[in-house]
Amino acid sequence: MLELRNISYHPASAVAPVLCSVSLSLAVGRASLVAGRSGSGKTTLLEVISGLADPSSGQVLWEGELLNSRQLRWLCGLVFQFPERHFLGLSVGQELKLGHRRLTAEEAQAALQLVGLEGLSLQQAPEQLSGGQQRRLALAVQLLRNPKVLLLDEPTAGLDWAVRGEILELLAALSQERAVLVVSHEPELFSGVIDGGWRLERGQLEPLSTLPTIGKTMAPLKRTQP
Ligand SMILES: Nc1ncnc2c1ncn2[C@@H]1O[C@H](COP(=O)(O)OP(=O)(O)OP(=O)(O)O)[C@@H](O)[C@H]1O
Ligand SMILES: [Mg+2]
Repeated sequence: MLELRNISYHPASAVAPVLCSVSLSLAVGRASLVAGRSGSGKTTLLEVISGLADPSSGQVLWEGELLNSRQLRWLCGLVFQFPERHFLGLSVGQELKLGHRRLTAEEAQAALQLVGLEGLSLQQAPEQLSGGQQRRLALAVQLLRNPKVLLLDEPTAGLDWAVRGEILELLAALSQERAVLVVSHEPELFSGVIDGGWRLERGQLEPLSTLPTIGKTMAPLKRTQP
């Protein structure tokens, strides 16, 4: 279980704190969601959880033990809101091999298969992939690290309905073995896949007992058969 206790984040350059005494728990085997409007601090929250930003105060614990930012970077896998900005490899194969120098072509293909990118050429440049493929590649890179905590920043933004459905199915499967936290400004997309979470507003978290639902015409978000 990952636990945030009274986390506040107030960078010197911000007029008001971005996060004010935020507390939450993420359990392995469960996916949770943080909803919030643009600018409410969702990405910042993920940066703090994943050890990329140091909180001004508060504690992050894993299985009851306090963790520093370095330990958090090991524990957590963050799939960025705009993954295309963070690719380092010149090819899909290189991107997958970062941190796994001995990754074989078979292992790379297995990682791609896990995220529905089977058959993708390892020679292809990441920037030539579609938005949905880039997001899934970024997820494959994180899954190779096998993080205990998987953090997904707006995983469905800008994707069409078919690809969104695939991502949601994947999410349900991935949360069985790890703690998953999704942040999104479209919480209704995740009803049926994620049971609960919080709304982030003015730096504070309010529990969401049930996710808002969308009209029956748009759900269920299942993989469309060709
Ligand atoms: N290091 C920083 N210095 C100053 N302000 C910051 C810093 N980090 C975050 N902020 C501010 O915190 C607020 C929240 O930003 P954040 O990117 O976390 O929002 P978000 O909810 O992810 O928005 P979006 O839905 O548009 O992605 C913004 O107003 C941003 O300017
Ligand atoms: Mg954001």
